[in-house]
Amino acid sequence: MARVLITRALPFAALERLHEAGHQVTVHPGPDPLDPPALRALVAATDPDGILCALTEQIDATLLRAAPGLRVVANFAVGTDNIDLAACAARGVAVGNTPDVLTDATADLAFALLLAAARRLAEGERDVRAGAWTTWVPDGWLGADVHGATLAVVGAGRIGEAVARRAAGFDMEVLRVGRRDDLHAALARAAFVSLHVPLTPATHHLIDAAALAACRPGAILVNTARGAVVDQVALAAALTSGHLAAAALDVTDPEPLPPADPLLRAPNLLVVPHIGSATRGARERMAEIAVANVLAGLAGRALPHPVA
Ligand code: DGY
Repeated sequence: MARVLITRALPFAALERLHEAGHQVTVHPGPDPLDPPALRALVAATDPDGILCALTEQIDATLLRAAPGLRVVANFAVGTDNIDLAACAARGVAVGNTPDVLTDATADLAFALLLAAARRLAEGERDVRAGAWTTWVPDGWLGADVHGATLAVVGAGRIGEAVARRAAGFDMEVLRVGRRDDLHAALARAAFVSLHVPLTPATHHLIDAAALAACRPGAILVNTARGAVVDQVALAAALTSGHLAAAALDVTDPEPLPPADPLLRAPNLLVVPHIGSATRGARERMAEIAVANVLAGLAGRALPHPVA
């Protein structure tokens, strides 16, 4: 029997497998994530062999020191920017994530955001509810054509490819940006830009003031990757000046944005609460994979989905 700490209450059947395997499972019961000191205290109190965590928890060297027996960390996410991978490797702690199973759900949301921003859906809906729509208007709520437009897909991974497949259905020209050197040239051509890079030191503020200035005037930015990939101060300026027509964000830095954050006052900003993988099916499959990673790590086997 091993001790497993689950840092967020995850309402998925897969978790039963941890109990069935005879492990002693502790679940942080609250709806909100623990702040780092509280998480450290819980880790120190439970001395887990395995941690199943979400992207809301920072698994860093300080936390690892509170868990001397830790053997495996399974992230309930494909992104692992919340985990200090080097510190885990140095301690011999295996790390797993949940790739593939959320690819299509996230690509669907990226495309939903793209369409919503292009066709001003949030604004139109607000206006209807506010009674600001009184008659059909020849030049009202005009948006951008999506079909036939050029889309820069920044990030050459699974989710970027899934977005590119969707774009093909809209007869879009897709510019795949897999190298930083190609970024500005693609931005200069694209009517839409969709971000699909992991957050690493190399991609932090990849979309900075210079990249935004390189964007074609009137471009629309979609971010379902990580908030810190974009310099949000520069983004607010680009929206306010009208250089960008709109931005649609599933992710921000921090999450959520404080209500007073200037970005929330920028025009033509659509923001949703980090729901890229939030379909029942995707989240259930993520739970299955996370549990499989924990079980394998505790058994001393290779994780089915290790983070390299
Ligand atoms: C991930 O998995 O990294 C998503 O951002 C959340 O599901």
